[in-house]
Amino acid sequence: IASNFLILLVSMLKSFSQEQVNIIRSDFPPDFLFGAATSAYQVEGAVLEDGRSLSNWDIFSHIEGNVADGSNAYIADDHYHRYLEDIEIMHSLGLTAYRFSISWSRILPRGRDGPVNKVAVQFYRKIIYNLLTRGIHPFVTLFHFEYPQELEDRFGGWLSPLMQEEYLHFAETCFAYFGDQVKYWITINEPNLFSEMAYERANYPPARCSPPFGDCVSGNSDVEPLIVVHNMLLAHAKAAKLYRERFKASDILMQSKVDGVLSIAVCAFMYVPMTDGEKDKAAADRALAFNVAWTLDPLVFGDYPPEMRSIHGPELPSFSAEERVLLRDSIDFIGINHYGTLYAKDCTHSVCVCNISSCVQGSDRAIRGFTYTGGERDGVPIGERTGMPRFFVVPRGMEEIVQYVKDRYNNKTMIITENGYASPGNEENDFVHDEKRIQYHQSYLAYLAQAMRKEADVQGYFVWSLIDNFEWASGYGPKFGLYHIDRPTLNRIPKNSARWYGDFLSNCSLVD
Ligand code: NOJ
Repeated sequence: IASNFLILLVSMLKSFSQEQVNIIRSDFPPDFLFGAATSAYQVEGAVLEDGRSLSNWDIFSHIEGNVADGSNAYIADDHYHRYLEDIEIMHSLGLTAYRFSISWSRILPRGRDGPVNKVAVQFYRKIIYNLLTRGIHPFVTLFHFEYPQELEDRFGGWLSPLMQEEYLHFAETCFAYFGDQVKYWITINEPNLFSEMAYERANYPPARCSPPFGDCVSGNSDVEPLIVVHNMLLAHAKAAKLYRERFKASDILMQSKVDGVLSIAVCAFMYVPMTDGEKDKAAADRALAFNVAWTLDPLVFGDYPPEMRSIHGPELPSFSAEERVLLRDSIDFIGINHYGTLYAKDCTHSVCVCNISSCVQGSDRAIRGFTYTGGERDGVPIGERTGMPRFFVVPRGMEEIVQYVKDRYNNKTMIITENGYASPGNEENDFVHDEKRIQYHQSYLAYLAQAMRKEADVQGYFVWSLIDNFEWASGYGPKFGLYHIDRPTLNRIPKNSARWYGDFLSNCSLVD
């Protein structure tokens, strides 16, 4: 064990020192999009203003114990009132794209049963206008974990196929009101992560759970996460068809020369085998299939990954022939949210004593492919730890995940829709000196550039996040922002990483 430990330590040190790289803007094509990302619920606040209805997250975070620091996002970063300042910040950094989401509860407070909230439409049109006038592409996410609570209460939210129709109405409303100016759409953010957190681990609303996390009050059907993703994929496919038929090619759009594209953003950790054994190699392949390909295979090929079908059998829902046609090629590019790498270990043959109950501690998806995933081997982490438990820093993972997606989907265009570093949370008095965040982005970008030199078609990169914000069930603890938010005043304070990103982007012409 001691010698194993030494070997690991040496290889970790070696890989860290290799990653002190110098990456410059001109390592990427001139038209490569460089942006930053946020989502409505995490930054807007103003939850009771201008006709917005209460959302799933307002209700969930109100219940004691659901959010780690007992906080909520009723004020969040007050972006609702400070959006102009935030857009100025983006402009000063030289961003060419900004990814944000449209709050469902703001636009359609009562879902399809009620009117469109025109004040909310005006709010997002002002954001879009101000971005465009500063040369920043709006990159709009429609569903980013938040929806009117009424839809949950009325028919059970994403567990019901009715949610597909609700979503379609929401998407159509957004295409109609914003489609003349928005070129890039992400229909749904991270279906795989959302279903895991909300229907397996009970960490996000509606806080249902499945084995092996089966100790919570409601839920307890291990097929729920599968049903939720199924409904999301069909909702996406219907919205994509509608967009392509009615909005993308409409006269208005032609006049403004907007040629829209759309996709889904998938939560894409990289998985590497825990050991050199064949079974663990197969486990790493399964982990990728059960996470990344789970959503991408249907959207590119029209059906779930064979790896999932062979393990789940009939409990994995099926698509009809018509639905398969609807799904196939229903994305124009692939959105990748990538943060870190995890080990994968085979549990199929009880090699790791991993049956459903004994996997509760630290296991990840024993029921999904009998694969244990985690960040440690013999107590040694795979990469540096961050403020988020599973987000281990492994820069080469960026090249590996891009390569995986490139190979599996025939080099379909990719955009890195999120990549970011969560400070461990102990920097309260020295939040500005975030050298680790700078190092993180530099090294991940270096590996991204390397993947692109090997011909991966990647066209953009978004830092998560522009500003520190409400990190869902973790509250305001983990901080990903380029800008610190002084909570009492809500002032935006640039961290060193903000200065680094700005310099990196402006050096483009100097280097050319
Ligand atoms: C994934 C989500 O899209 C975003 O909402 C979240 O804050 C970040 N990653 C960090 O966990």
